[in-house]
Amino acid sequence: MIELRSDTLTQPTPGMRQAIANAVVGDEQKREDPTVIELEERAAALLGQEAAVFLPTATMANQIAVRILTEPGDELLAEEDSHIMISEQGGPAALSGLVMRALPGHAGRLTPEQIRGSVRDHASGHSPRTRLVTLENTHNSAGGRVWPLEEVEAVTKAAREHGLAVHLDGARILNAATASGVPAARIGGLFDTVTICFSKGLGCPLGSVVAGSQELMVKARRAKHLFGGAMRQAGIVAAAAVYALDHHVERLAEDHARARRLAEGLAEAGLPIELEAVETNFVQIDVVTLGLTKAEALARLAEHGVGLSGTIHPTKLRAVTHLDVSDEDIDRAIELIPRALGAKAPLAAPLSGSAGSARRPV
Ligand SMILES: Cc1ncc(COP(=O)(O)O)c(C=O)c1O
Repeated sequence: MIELRSDTLTQPTPGMRQAIANAVVGDEQKREDPTVIELEERAAALLGQEAAVFLPTATMANQIAVRILTEPGDELLAEEDSHIMISEQGGPAALSGLVMRALPGHAGRLTPEQIRGSVRDHASGHSPRTRLVTLENTHNSAGGRVWPLEEVEAVTKAAREHGLAVHLDGARILNAATASGVPAARIGGLFDTVTICFSKGLGCPLGSVVAGSQELMVKARRAKHLFGGAMRQAGIVAAAAVYALDHHVERLAEDHARARRLAEGLAEAGLPIELEAVETNFVQIDVVTLGLTKAEALARLAEHGVGLSGTIHPTKLRAVTHLDVSDEDIDRAIELIPRALGAKAPLAAPLSGSAGSARRPV
């Protein structure tokens, strides 16, 4: 099976397993785990913040950030398909008592005008206090799209003008930094809090951090305990993240190049791919014009030995590259995916031989 469902599906490499085996550990709750402390210091610097707190998941990292930046009854503004909005079970409402206000985005991005136009006047005492804006970079459900730095600057500035706090869901911030050439610290430093996830493109079994000022991270550490995330010898997993920072950051560019090659190969074979939307390690395929539902398309792909996954979009699938996807996998995927989906190659670039013979009749 060519595993393109998600970049969360990687296996730890032999080098990472060795780092895990050799980790020096201590009681993390007592701040006695040197590997966790090393990771937190490195992650804070990487993200342009003073301090960081190690956590098991990126969902917990987001939820802790939201919790420490708000009071119950406050309002959160977020793009309507962002992970915080659609994939964390309403956590900001359930865990922090927030009103969650979804704003329509373009490629997962919001505008400064949207922020300015959404701040409620709570002076009368009736409205919730608009308090927090959360952004996501790269944006998962938009297809791994990247925020241009000027747009992040403009939106965070608009938020601050209105006294709002700003949080970045940076689960894939290093993909954004790699694609844009803007250091993660430059992006992350614009926010009150920023997260990064180690179990996606960085290839770790688990782990995430939330970063921010020293003062905010004192609150984050308390919230971590409250949410049940305070661990013991957590250096055993933090060691994987330290290893990933040393060995798996530069190679993200390879994932992006493979996604680009896959997208171009599939488009050439006649599949409906929006090439301009392929900015990082995601390729989205809209199966509606192929006359297939997502479920039918996924089943056909599985029969052909290729794993893709659905997206929030009713007719789009995605293929995600990661460190367990090789150049040979991409070559095979470029043959198998069009064959499985019955793509009709455009006349200018006909499909050759066997792929053509297995086309789905229309
Ligand atoms: C943008 C984004 N934020 C947060 C998360 C949550 O990550 P975790 O599964 O580690 O909680 C994900 C997971 O896919 C994600 O894509």
